[in-house]
Amino acid sequence: MTEVAWIGLGAMGSRMAARIRDEGHELVVWNRTREKAEELGVPVAASPREAAARAEIVFTMLADPEALRAVTEDGDGIVAGLREGAVLLEMSTVGPQAIARLSERMPSHASLLDVPVLGSLPEAEAGELRLFAGGEDAPLERALPLLRVLGEPLHVGGPGSGAAAKLVANATLVGTIALLGETLALADGLGLPRETVFDVLSVTPLAAQAERRRPAIEAGEYPPRFTLSLAHKDAELVQEAAAAAGRDLPALAAARDHLAAAERAGLGAEDYAAVLKQILG
Ligand SMILES: NC(=O)c1ccc[n+]([C@@H]2O[C@H](COP(=O)([O-])OP(=O)(O)OC[C@H]3O[C@@H](n4cnc5c(N)ncnc54)[C@H](OP(=O)(O)O)[C@@H]3O)[C@@H](O)[C@H]2O)c1
Repeated sequence: MTEVAWIGLGAMGSRMAARIRDEGHELVVWNRTREKAEELGVPVAASPREAAARAEIVFTMLADPEALRAVTEDGDGIVAGLREGAVLLEMSTVGPQAIARLSERMPSHASLLDVPVLGSLPEAEAGELRLFAGGEDAPLERALPLLRVLGEPLHVGGPGSGAAAKLVANATLVGTIALLGETLALADGLGLPRETVFDVLSVTPLAAQAERRRPAIEAGEYPPRFTLSLAHKDAELVQEAAAAAGRDLPALAAARDHLAAAERAGLGAEDYAAVLKQILG
């Protein structure tokens, strides 16, 4: 049994933390909105610092880099509470720059691993996420039994590599959905019936994506799993990371622009596939 702290109990974090609780670990939690923390039925800390001070392994699962800064950096933040030998497991999608910033603030007596996740709410609930782990071998070895409760870890490299791998994975998500939208818009413009278009797409590289999205497109309903505002955040993180690396990615910038327009149009709380509504008009 391990003493575990979990900070960030949104759609993903609440499901993942529930799995750690159900394994019988000694769990303490903190969330900005306290009611969500209370729903888990485990002790709720008064601050991220207090939660960290009560644990050997500290998880964070937060919206974005700003949220990560808010719970790690100030006097009540996690960094100030980390115990000797503690491991901080950062699982949000925040990009390598946020991990580098956090890494600079870590005390020498604790370790940081960046382990963002691929998969959505059903996979989080079932413990079937794909986990991209960045960091040193020794803390990862310690964390592995807990990570395996959440999914399948893949050690992709040193510090920051997990965050980088996650941006690569999500670049494919936002790029593919934008390409599907533009392809359908082209077909609409050329007067092809939808039925025919789906037959055509079924023999192209977009076959799997078109088949997966067809029911939502036909129903015009996109219930949230991975919200559009989070996907927009990721598309922005891809551009920031690419710019820092001296790479120009215009196709992914266009996908980002579609997501930005969809968010401005009020679709931020829907699933990210609702960008199709924006593109198709
Ligand atoms: N949903 C998915 O399918 C999915 C899949 C893979 C990865 N991800 C990534 O996983 C992370 C979490 O996603 P999610 O779907 O769980 O998001 P979510 O439901 O929006 O939860 C976000 C969490 O961040 C907290 N938060 C936001 N701003 C904060 C701030 N300024 N200070 C402190 N806490 C703050 C929220 O607290 P409150 O409860 O107080 O708002 C909540 O606990 C994101 O980075 C996302 O991109 C999501």
